[in-house]
Amino acid sequence: MVTLDGARVTLREHVVGDLAAVLTYSSDRSVARYVPWEANTEAVARAFLEDAISTAAQQPRTSYVLAIIDRSTGTLIGAARIGLESEVHRRADIGYVLRRDLWGSGLATEVARLLIDFGFDNLGLYRIWATTHPDNPASSRVLEKIGMSYEGRIRGHMFVKGSWRDSLSYAILEPEWRANRH
Ligand SMILES: CC(C)(COP(=O)(O)OP(=O)(O)OC[C@H]1O[C@@H](n2cnc3c(N)ncnc32)[C@H](O)[C@@H]1OP(=O)(O)O)[C@@H](O)C(=O)NCCC(=O)NCCS
Repeated sequence: MVTLDGARVTLREHVVGDLAAVLTYSSDRSVARYVPWEANTEAVARAFLEDAISTAAQQPRTSYVLAIIDRSTGTLIGAARIGLESEVHRRADIGYVLRRDLWGSGLATEVARLLIDFGFDNLGLYRIWATTHPDNPASSRVLEKIGMSYEGRIRGHMFVKGSWRDSLSYAILEPEWRANRH
């Protein structure tokens, strides 16, 4: 079971009792705007939670879908994910989502740093990457702030909400992370 502590947030495994808090952020349409999923119904939020809990028990584990906890209140405020794509190539991708009223205070940057520190330190990864919606500069900025480099535009990357969309691609390699570690 994974727990990652930052200054203001903790990332921990999901539990069944998280449903109401998961529904609070994931049912917000502004939160779902640039992600591949629609604003959640209760049934969808429950399925997300069940999936997060069941993948935590898989061996070998390839997906870490963690709850973001605001340390000052103990409240669940979002989700963070790191998914292993290849054991041979030691590569993973990350993602994150935060409750709307908490945007703009650096929390996602702290979350993303915890994910890449975990990936390089504990999972032995060499490359961690992420993609953003081209109209979501806040997410691109988070990736730049944690030291990722922009690698280009992936055209027609996903069929989402009825149309094809491009993605912007960012990545950081283990030696770059190590060189800038503070
Ligand atoms: C993307 C998201 C996680 C960012 O969370 P956050 O806690 O607000 O992020 P941070 O405060 O750590 O950093 C945001 C940065 O983007 C910048 N930013 C915000 N809106 C911006 C905009 N429209 N244009 C340019 N920069 C913008 C902020 O100024 C900040 O940069 P700075 O520290 O240099 O000033 C949050 O908006 C979210 O949950 N969105 C919905 C889900 C989502 O899109 N997830 C990402 C999927 S790829």
